[in-house]
Amino acid sequence: MLFPYGKVVTNEFFYDRHEIRNTIRHLLKGAQSFMLKAPRRYGKTSLIKQTLLDIDQEHFYIDFRKIPRLEVFNDKLLEYIYAQMGIKGAIKQLQENIVTFLKTHRASIKVDVSLFEASVELFASQKEEDERLLITLELLGKLAKELLSPLYIVFDEFQDADGMSGEIDIYELLRAEIQHHENICYIFAGSNMTMMTKIFETKSAPFYNFSRKLTLEPFDKNELSGEVIKAFRSRGVVFKEDNLLENLIERCGGHPANTMLVLQMIEFTMDEEDIKTVTQDIIDRCYKMAQAEMRDLVMEYLKEIRTKEHLHDVIYRMANNQEQILDSSSLQQKRKYLVDMGHLRHISRGEYEIIDNYLRDELASESAIIN
Ligand SMILES: Nc1ncnc2c1ncn2[C@@H]1O[C@H](COP(=O)(O)OP(=O)(O)OP(=O)(O)O)[C@@H](O)[C@H]1O
Ligand SMILES: [Mg+2]
Repeated sequence: MLFPYGKVVTNEFFYDRHEIRNTIRHLLKGAQSFMLKAPRRYGKTSLIKQTLLDIDQEHFYIDFRKIPRLEVFNDKLLEYIYAQMGIKGAIKQLQENIVTFLKTHRASIKVDVSLFEASVELFASQKEEDERLLITLELLGKLAKELLSPLYIVFDEFQDADGMSGEIDIYELLRAEIQHHENICYIFAGSNMTMMTKIFETKSAPFYNFSRKLTLEPFDKNELSGEVIKAFRSRGVVFKEDNLLENLIERCGGHPANTMLVLQMIEFTMDEEDIKTVTQDIIDRCYKMAQAEMRDLVMEYLKEIRTKEHLHDVIYRMANNQEQILDSSSLQQKRKYLVDMGHLRHISRGEYEIIDNYLRDELASESAIIN
């Protein structure tokens, strides 16, 4: 398969992103922490995994959407700390017998033995999870100081970290400790634009000015089309006219997942029908098939948009190239809201674009129904 869809993509399946991939590679090499924000399904996780592969760097990875409780996070982090010390499956061993664990590993441990002992002490103690978090982070900081090369810590869907911590202000807590860490590169990714902006870009926020800030843009039409043509050519498949592919990418607004879905459908169609030349008709068919598959998600977006006053009207007018009727300050506010929700992209002063091409199409078809 040339174009996998849905899961994280790397290596031969990773397309485009030349410039930001280079930038991130440099940041990683310099152990410079950064945050990466982009709408859902834009390729954040893939880009981070790919750049870490580029510099051949193992890392600690957490997707906060999948961490239900702080306890789980603490255990994972502690397990990682032990792995850096040279012990695999430490938590299970500790649960079985702490004394045996101490005896078995004390002599062979790769780091200062006091660090090892402190970690075991922490495990044995009955501390609250927030305190345990602070101590675990402290251990991580000390560990990193002892190591020759930096540690790489990926916090994916960082805006959801507060979901695991109940009453505790997890961002304050994290920041309080990790601001002192040297030799650790923190990578924060997130798809909730409102929250990521709030955490990293408002003056009173805990992570304000904490790291570099990057935004992932749509696919680059020229770069992607060159690579895709090459990939199809490796299967003996060509495009009937030069601009067909570029037009398709443009129609998808460079939306990474949507573009890849259509490309996958084209790939399968060519295979099933055993044809070697992609025509406009095949592209149209595949574009529509992908649209049908994405419909439920688009409906969910619309539902969300309708919960706030005027948002639907603003985005509907955009999709249908109609003039806006709100006064300029309200319009500004609504657009900002839609940007934060991940539905609009700010292009330049007063200029915005709908991110999801299928949302745009759906809004345009609403107009066809009304008229
Ligand atoms: N650089 C890329 N090359 C090829 N396909 C890509 C690329 N980036 C994204 N995609 C497509 O988008 C899909 C989603 O990618 P990924 O999971 O990395 O995005 P994400 O922004 O982390 O998504 P989510 O918000 O769901 O976590 C991939 O399965 C792939 O189809
Ligand atoms: Mg992701």
